[in-house]
Amino acid sequence: MRIGVLTGGGDCPGLNAAIRGVVYRAAAHGHEVVGILDGWKGLLEGRSMPLDRESVQGSITQGGTILGSSRTNPFKSSEGSQEALANFRKLGLDALVAIGGDDTLTAGWEMSRRGIHVVGVPKTMDNDVNGTDWTFGVDSATSVAMEALERLRDTARSHHRIVILEVMGRHAGWVALLTGLAGGADFTVIPEETYDPKRLVRSVQNALSRRGYALVVASEGAEVAPDLAPGRAAQDDFGHGILREKGVGAYLAQYLEKTLGAECRYAVIGHIQRGGPPTLFDRILATRLGTKAVDLAEQRDFGKVVVLRGEEIRAIPFSEAVGTPKRVDAPWRDLLHTFDA
Ligand code: F6P
Repeated sequence: MRIGVLTGGGDCPGLNAAIRGVVYRAAAHGHEVVGILDGWKGLLEGRSMPLDRESVQGSITQGGTILGSSRTNPFKSSEGSQEALANFRKLGLDALVAIGGDDTLTAGWEMSRRGIHVVGVPKTMDNDVNGTDWTFGVDSATSVAMEALERLRDTARSHHRIVILEVMGRHAGWVALLTGLAGGADFTVIPEETYDPKRLVRSVQNALSRRGYALVVASEGAEVAPDLAPGRAAQDDFGHGILREKGVGAYLAQYLEKTLGAECRYAVIGHIQRGGPPTLFDRILATRLGTKAVDLAEQRDFGKVVVLRGEEIRAIPFSEAVGTPKRVDAPWRDLLHTFDA
């Protein structure tokens, strides 16, 4: 077989491990692999490179993606989708492994409906893909955010301040929740809950009176004030704005300083969360998913997404993975607030 592989959407640690998994498994079974450059954009423009074991050597330790990525939607126009289908055939591909989040997988599903043999591999630091226990990228990203919170704690403690850490995650609160829980935040603000300033103030006050400083984690997607800009309008082909421009961290810092009269600072770590080497968990998960995708292609089990369920890697239909983002549910919210100050 001649198998194409692409990475679409925001990069995250583990993408290279997944590509390497595809390449090694394919090589072991006598298949050829072609890397499509810059996600769906590369397929529209017919840009690709051959991939063999040599080309992915050492890549398991690197963040980002050796293939490049984009937020291009091949179905934005009917000409685009025709072009993508024509280039798939021109490249002589038998199957395509699409590695990405909800947007990339949705486009993969569309391709699959048009007769292209696609297998999806979920990735995202946001952890918001349905049907899988975890996506690779989130462990690495939240490990960075957790460390950032620990560093901020030193300053908060020394200066007796309130410090707010704003993290990414889009409209799902997983990154904030995991960072807050693991880093011992006094309160964590997530988009899945109606923002209640009284709860936030109570926890911050408790922390201040107990030990003289307070740490808050806030998700970029939290709705904390109606007058905050909703993020720059439709920045990409899938209609997503840039949420950090809402300024959730800045807003909360100003609000707490005014309300409590205590010194307050905030930090927005942005893309720093998304770079760097993948953690062990992300390397192993991505490796297992990449190899499994090739197994599925070999079995001609197309139109599926490979996912983690408990200890097992399984395959589920695209329809179960895409469309509705996985958001933080009640048991997780309950766990989170058990640790409010
Ligand atoms: O989806 C991953 C993510 O990092 C989100 O958490 C964030 O809102 C968005 O991408 C940022 O996108 P970009 O890199 O295009 O600015």
